[in-house]
Amino acid sequence: MRLLGLWCLPAVFLLVHASERELDWWESTIFYQIYPRSFKDSDGDGIGDLKGITSKLEYLKELGVGATWLSPMFKSPMYDFGYDIADFYDVQEEYGTMADFEELLAKAKELDIKIVLDFVPNHTSNESMWFEEALKGHQKYFDYFVWEDGVEDENGVLQPPNNWNSVFRKSAWEYREEVGKYYLHQFVIGQPDLNYRNPDVVEEMKNVLRFWFDKGVAGFRVDAIAHLFEVDKEKYGGKYPDEPISGQDLDDPLSYNYLNHIYTKDQEETFDMVYQWREVFDEFKEKDGLTRVMMTEAYSSPQVTMKYFGDEQQNGAQMPFNFVLISDFNGQSSAGEIKYAIDKFLTFKPIDKLANWVAGNHDNSRVASRFGPKLVDGMNMLVLLLPGVAVTYMGEEIGMVDGYVSWEDTVDPSGCNTDDPINYWKSSRDPERTPFQWNNDKNAGFSTAEKTWLPVAEGYEQLNTEIQLNSEGRSHIKIYKGLAKLRTEPAFRYGRYESVAFNTDVFAFRRWYDGDVYIVVVNFRDEPHTIDFTYFEGVNGHLEVVVCSLESSRRRGDVVEANNAKISESESIVLKLVQ
Ligand code: NOJ
Ligand code: MG
Repeated sequence: MRLLGLWCLPAVFLLVHASERELDWWESTIFYQIYPRSFKDSDGDGIGDLKGITSKLEYLKELGVGATWLSPMFKSPMYDFGYDIADFYDVQEEYGTMADFEELLAKAKELDIKIVLDFVPNHTSNESMWFEEALKGHQKYFDYFVWEDGVEDENGVLQPPNNWNSVFRKSAWEYREEVGKYYLHQFVIGQPDLNYRNPDVVEEMKNVLRFWFDKGVAGFRVDAIAHLFEVDKEKYGGKYPDEPISGQDLDDPLSYNYLNHIYTKDQEETFDMVYQWREVFDEFKEKDGLTRVMMTEAYSSPQVTMKYFGDEQQNGAQMPFNFVLISDFNGQSSAGEIKYAIDKFLTFKPIDKLANWVAGNHDNSRVASRFGPKLVDGMNMLVLLLPGVAVTYMGEEIGMVDGYVSWEDTVDPSGCNTDDPINYWKSSRDPERTPFQWNNDKNAGFSTAEKTWLPVAEGYEQLNTEIQLNSEGRSHIKIYKGLAKLRTEPAFRYGRYESVAFNTDVFAFRRWYDGDVYIVVVNFRDEPHTIDFTYFEGVNGHLEVVVCSLESSRRRGDVVEANNAKISESESIVLKLVQ
């Protein structure tokens, strides 16, 4: 017996120790996404810029954010607002200079905020030196891109090589007379796809990573990763094959969803490329000890998404984005559907990897518009308190809503390419990109310009950071700050997780660690409910309110009976078990 006891002791000790291991910087932080064009304009041209961001880094600190991912600020003709990069090694003039970027980095370092950049490997701009050289017939650069001959139709008119459509609608092929061939662009015409079957491209893009790591960035969000490779055409007689019809959008053969993208998306070679990049990331960690973090953007099935993590042999991205909070449920979903969506990533995720939670970004309608303003705090509770890394899109901390952008003011290619002045807004991403709302000055304090690049959303006079920070009572931003603080508690850092849909409206989860037990409850409907939280093992007696949503009539410190808790309409609360 005694022997057994002695044997067990180190094992128990190890177990506790393992779960309490010190987390790496990225594992416990909140990543805050900044869309530079819309965050803060320092020079009055109506366009956000780097100096603007630097001037607001303290704001991030105040929120409790430890890292920020900046959407592209590289040199670009802006056909896709910076995701069409003309020079991967330079800063777009309207955003500032390299010196401004270095200043931003220095200030961020002072504040201990990590800077993560956007890596856009799938394509360049059609105004990049590489593409221009390709058009001049410079073979090295010609081979950087994906070219194909057109086909003549029955009238002898040249048509695109096959039926592939771009993500933004219409053919993914564009003809260039200079070379007499079509090039592939999976996004806008101004974004020619790079050819990853060319080792020179692979090396060139690794050098882009190295350049910015040398400057001191802490990681990259990797854009449009699922589109990196196209099928190897040599396996199809030297011609890229047509993609099959998906059965969706049958009335619109030019739409992206019309086809099933078996030859242009999620190709197996993509994963190896991610693992190769991770080696570059780790080269830098070896130099200075700082983990460089990779987040991959792919709207793919969970099974495919998990491959980005890597496997036993190779490391991949630490954070393959988990988009279930964006793609898998909305304001109409039942609590059961919500649980199902959340469980998805957790179910497929390798046991030794972390989940991550994202409810919004510059490509998707805002949380307050998708779920209604009453659920803003509830959604922030999910993002910040579910197990794993949290990612917040700028403005979600104050519950910004989608702005109205008229057809005339629409600039997003995804909206413009619909050619439809009535329904364009369903595809346009401008509404979630309207300027950040700082205060109730002109242009919401974003800019002193007469006209901003996108109009400021209506209602900013009441919905802005200044009002919310200074409000006497509760506000979204104060709740957000409370959650950011709570997130540092061991129960949320190391704690286990269990969730339940109590009925069609109420979703709840328990996080517990070392005697501390928390319950997070979100009522997704405008119906009150009485909930018996003793469903959760070890929960009985009383629960204390730690954080509650804006509309909740409760206060911090209120006590709730565990077996008979009244949850009012659209109320979200974080409760702690009273021991
Ligand atoms: C995903 C980005 O988030 C989006 O804004 C962009 O249009 C496409 N990738 C193409 O780069
Ligand atoms: Mg500016």
